[in-house]
Amino acid sequence: MGTNFNYIPCALQDELRTIANAIVAPGKGILAVDESPGSMAKKFLTFDLPNTEENRRIYRQLLFTTENLQEHISGAILHNETLYQKTDDGKTFGDLLRHRGIIVGIKVDKGIVPLPGSLDESTTEGLDDLYCRCGKYKRDGCDFAKWRCVLKIGKHIPTYQAIMENTNVLARYASICQSQGIVPIVEPDVLVDGDHDIIRAQKVTETVLAAQYKALNDHHVYLEGTLLKPNMIIPGQKCPRRNSPEEIAYITVQSFLRTVPAAVPGIVFLSGGQSEEEATVHLNAINNVNLKHPWELSFSYGRALQASVLEAWAGKNENIAQAKNELQKRAKANGLARYGKYVAGSIPPFKADQSLFVEDHKY
Ligand code: 13P
Repeated sequence: MGTNFNYIPCALQDELRTIANAIVAPGKGILAVDESPGSMAKKFLTFDLPNTEENRRIYRQLLFTTENLQEHISGAILHNETLYQKTDDGKTFGDLLRHRGIIVGIKVDKGIVPLPGSLDESTTEGLDDLYCRCGKYKRDGCDFAKWRCVLKIGKHIPTYQAIMENTNVLARYASICQSQGIVPIVEPDVLVDGDHDIIRAQKVTETVLAAQYKALNDHHVYLEGTLLKPNMIIPGQKCPRRNSPEEIAYITVQSFLRTVPAAVPGIVFLSGGQSEEEATVHLNAINNVNLKHPWELSFSYGRALQASVLEAWAGKNENIAQAKNELQKRAKANGLARYGKYVAGSIPPFKADQSLFVEDHKY
């Protein structure tokens, strides 16, 4: 294998490293609100709200105008549509977030597609015009990006083919983002679907992450200017044997110590169908694990930051203040968990805590 290559210029390295470190600033994490218009349909259906561009705008405006959001939220991941939508008084959401001190991120993948020849597995598409899109997004104020690949656990999966393909496409995406001054969030999501136990989840996650960092190295990605967005290591959703938050936390950090280089500034977990309280309690336990580690351990939650907000809002104008209050509560709970200082049950969700699991989840 050839080892000749050029490092990206020093000024670009500095820029990427500064952005990545700011995203994982202590006590803060990412609000992931990059659901495609298609996935918003399912959320709105629960309270009979038509999935129109205007209703999606009203919902995102509610989120982004929440008072003191920047206290616990360092960055927000947007869908292309949301980036260019405007507040009632005509400011784009991108500008609004930036002026509030929140770093703007953009989902750049174009979704999950079947991987022919595999055992019902998938890859993620969107590389073709990525170089140009990243350049435009950077000019339009985005400083980081997200690309999600999924790997499933089953008797014979993930296959070698699926691991190689998904980790390679993530590495290609990462190198293209960096060339345009955008910090790539690398998201190889090992799904919680299935009845496997935590040890199987651990082995699969370690295998995927080992392949991921080999692929990033092969593509000369500057690790200091990246973030990893993984699943926590938890038993399959149908596994009868459940593990304590402390066991989950220990195994999760142990696996990352085995596979994630110290040059990576931060690991920002996805919530992956955990309930709001579970996602916070687990992050809290992860930050209390008695193992030395070199990276920040933070959150980049979608469902676990939005479930209560959506329930409180239910599509009604008169509920907006209550919905904003729910977002402040979830952001604060996870902000505390970043320091390992969240007390379980102290910031309850809007309704009874419930699993947010969705089979074969699409974003
Ligand atoms: P969840 O936290 O809902 O798993 O989503 C985070 C995300 O961005 C998945 O790509």
